[in-house]
Amino acid sequence: MLESMAGLRRSHYCAEISEPLLDQEVTIMGWVQHRRDHGGLVFIDLRDRTGLVQTVFNPQEDPVTHEKSHDVRAEYVLALKGRVRRRPDDMINPKLPTGTVEVFIRELRVLNVAQTPPFIIEDHADVNENVRLKYRYLDLRRPVILKNFILRHNLARLTREYFAGNGFLEVETPVLTKSTPEGARDYLVPSRLNQGGFYALPQSPQLFKQLLMMSGLDRYCQIVKCFRDEDLRADRQPEFTQVDLEMSFASQDEIMSMLEGYMARVFSELAGQELELPLSRLTYAESMLKYGNDRPDLRYDLAIADITGIFTESRAQVFSEAVKTGGAVRAIRAPGAAAFSRKQLDDLVALAISFGAKGLAWIKITPEGWQGPLVKFLTEKEKDGLISALGAQAGDVLFFGADQSDLVAQVLGQIRTHLAQALDLIPGGVYKLIWVTDFPMFEYDPDGRRWQAKHHPFTAPREEDLDLLTENPGVVRAQAYDLVLNGHEIGGGSVRIHRPDVQDRVFRALGLPEEEIKDKFGFFLEALTYGAPPHGGCAFGLDRLAMLLAGAGSLRDVIAFPKTQKAACPLTEAPGRVGSRQLMELGLKLDLKSS
Ligand code: AMO
Ligand code: AMP
Repeated sequence: MLESMAGLRRSHYCAEISEPLLDQEVTIMGWVQHRRDHGGLVFIDLRDRTGLVQTVFNPQEDPVTHEKSHDVRAEYVLALKGRVRRRPDDMINPKLPTGTVEVFIRELRVLNVAQTPPFIIEDHADVNENVRLKYRYLDLRRPVILKNFILRHNLARLTREYFAGNGFLEVETPVLTKSTPEGARDYLVPSRLNQGGFYALPQSPQLFKQLLMMSGLDRYCQIVKCFRDEDLRADRQPEFTQVDLEMSFASQDEIMSMLEGYMARVFSELAGQELELPLSRLTYAESMLKYGNDRPDLRYDLAIADITGIFTESRAQVFSEAVKTGGAVRAIRAPGAAAFSRKQLDDLVALAISFGAKGLAWIKITPEGWQGPLVKFLTEKEKDGLISALGAQAGDVLFFGADQSDLVAQVLGQIRTHLAQALDLIPGGVYKLIWVTDFPMFEYDPDGRRWQAKHHPFTAPREEDLDLLTENPGVVRAQAYDLVLNGHEIGGGSVRIHRPDVQDRVFRALGLPEEEIKDKFGFFLEALTYGAPPHGGCAFGLDRLAMLLAGAGSLRDVIAFPKTQKAACPLTEAPGRVGSRQLMELGLKLDLKSS
């Protein structure tokens, strides 16, 4: 029999019930976590957003309410009224914040009943993720997950406070729009009123925020959904949220220092960590050389050393061959890896090969001497060179890559990450932020046989590299910067092009045909001719920041209703099929290769 809450008013959240409330009457409302019948006393743990509290029903004190408690099952929705008491000493539960108290119930109302849920709703439930996502509303009842959303809420709140406090205006930009080139595929929306026409969902509000600068808005910031149809990973969702911002009349250093102020506030308030400003910086070239990628995880060392110079004349062909063909020889010193089994070493070699390497030479340094496939080819001079370049000592394994430098960087970058895990070198609760700057403007796409913008084509080249745009685009550096946290890119931005002639030259360097430039960006190029101020900005991945601050392993833990690896929503079963009538209205016909 369901009852109403009329006349009752919640006085406290469950987790607020604590010793200062002893002997007071409280009214709590929530869900039944457990019901335990101790043949006499009945215990019900009640749960709400904040956590759990134990309640007790005593047949001697209140036989009617006690009797009623027998019908209650897991996940029933209850209103309970009673008095707070201290638990007997042997009943104290130190694991629970409310573990020293319990509430003796004098009134119980069943506000709603519940089916048996498909999984037990507990903080550390071992449940298949698809099932969790199908019943996400049940999954979200777990306080451990809910707490991520409280953190995310606080992150969004202080983001608005910080930027509003610094004169940024929040402006909403369209969701039904035209393609913005951020490097992924677009999600398209067919237009009923303009048949054959498609809107693209924004990969970012990039062009609109630049137009707002041209409008004289001066400073803009928006917390905004972006959509990208790309391969998904733990830190990539098809729809995600950016803290998107733009500033006029500000230099790269001024923009970066504004962003550092934001980070300082975030880490101080949400992680209890005072950042040392300015944050350290690394150029793209340095980062690729030392860490093998442009988003280095600096919570551990394992830096890559270039040792090409040691091996110019080497008898180890693997090395001398690479040097002769203009490549590089680089190595990582892994302290403690001498304890690895042969299988662990073989697995690392296989891993390197899976990333495109021809192999992964290694040298194990033991008190008995050096071991490994190439040791017999090394001269004493080369060995001394390795010791001084790498600081090699007993207990280490040295891992080598020898090939074209980009490939060596990429392979050793991956090996570095794996070594950090295998050697357990990643400390918990540590945040390492670093700027990566001076990205190349372009990267070569061997498939399309043309240059592509590394960031996006509105990024300004460095002034001193402007003249190289036509003759040698590969060496032009951009006024672009990424902010990296623990190996994840959490933000990226740049100073923009504000001169139409420069924008035109960049489009040309990208080899875009005149027609395509006009069709895609005509409106934008025109806007640039009406007095665009110098401007620049950045976008942070709000989900990624929330994930890292929450110590979560996947974006799915900080997005209320996330998508799976296949960009589907198990709860709503989106994407769904549509009827022929809807397709007809849109002027569309399906031609599916497989059903
Ligand atoms: P960018 O493409 O680097 O820059 O994106 C900015 C930040 O957004 C986050 N991010 C993602 N998070 C989750 N899932 C995804 N699929 C995903 N893709 C990106 C990252 C990234 O650093 N318009 C430019 C910004 C600018 O120049 O101002 C842009 O979108 O944390
Ligand atoms: P090989 O001469 O091909 O038998 O290789 C000898 C050792 O060098 C093996 O341990 C390989 O894994 C390693 N190796 C081969 N090619 C490379 C390379 N390009 N870079 C680094 N190590 C390599």
